[in-house]
Amino acid sequence: MTSLSTKHLLGIKDITLEDINLIFQTADNFKEVINRPIKKVPSLRDVTIANVFFENSTRTKLSFELAEKRLSADVINFSASSSSVKKGESLVDTVSNILAMKVDMVVMRHPNPGAHIHLARHVDCSIINAGDGAHEHPTQALLDAYSLRERVGDLKGLKILIVGDILHSRVALSNVFCLQKLGAEVRVCGPATLIPKHMESLGVKVMLNFEEALKWCDVVNMLRIQMERQDIQYFPTLREYTMQYGLSRELLYKVGKKDIVVMHPGPINRGVEITSDMADSEFSIILDQVENGVAIRMAVLYLLAGDASSN
Ligand code: CP
Repeated sequence: MTSLSTKHLLGIKDITLEDINLIFQTADNFKEVINRPIKKVPSLRDVTIANVFFENSTRTKLSFELAEKRLSADVINFSASSSSVKKGESLVDTVSNILAMKVDMVVMRHPNPGAHIHLARHVDCSIINAGDGAHEHPTQALLDAYSLRERVGDLKGLKILIVGDILHSRVALSNVFCLQKLGAEVRVCGPATLIPKHMESLGVKVMLNFEEALKWCDVVNMLRIQMERQDIQYFPTLREYTMQYGLSRELLYKVGKKDIVVMHPGPINRGVEITSDMADSEFSIILDQVENGVAIRMAVLYLLAGDASSN
């Protein structure tokens, strides 16, 4: 197999295990490229990509831009806060105007779940979802699984715990889809108020007791509490949240855990969901996740560019 089964990357739910493996194989090649003294290849020369961000981002935006530049694409960056969206222009009109300037592909982050699905129905280019509200963040899940595979090998049968604000997390949902396709067992843990009701129907067991959940897992993926998406208070105080669900070395020792892989998609709130000591510990692959994001995004862009160059 040399091409993806889809024209867009809207979510992990829509792609196959073969697609994931092809992205990983392609990322292996690009990882080798970006570790050379000359980190650039001409693969996307003459392809123009727009990074359209309606929501803040550090890692995803920079990582896509770097991936595009490493592939020699022409890149334009759009930020909603300084655009005519402020004057009432619709999403489809905004992107259609960008495409009229002979742009071939769009990478978009949007606060509304499903915004990318809506856009893909109205425009004729490949769309890559860089995060849509609390729905999906497919390249994050791909880089997470890729980084984990690099650390532990085959993910089949691996026990992975996602902890924290599952309700508002696009990372959690995309990780569940991706890790299950790769044969891992995924469970979630957090306050009952921050766990969506449909989790069990996805084959994901809910654990409310963090100590018990830590004993069970091989890997723990700690999520940030997304205060900006919370309209009501879901737990009494942050201090109490940290006492019940914060990851620390003391807690690991208390539950008798000697070996674990610690992940976090960022941004980290040090001292809330994870101590600084654990974030920077020998268990942590957090910066590997960021590093691998560039190779994964190069792979996705490269594999979808076949459609782009035929526009
Ligand atoms: N992990 C992640 O999506 O981070 P940013 O919001 O900084 O892109």
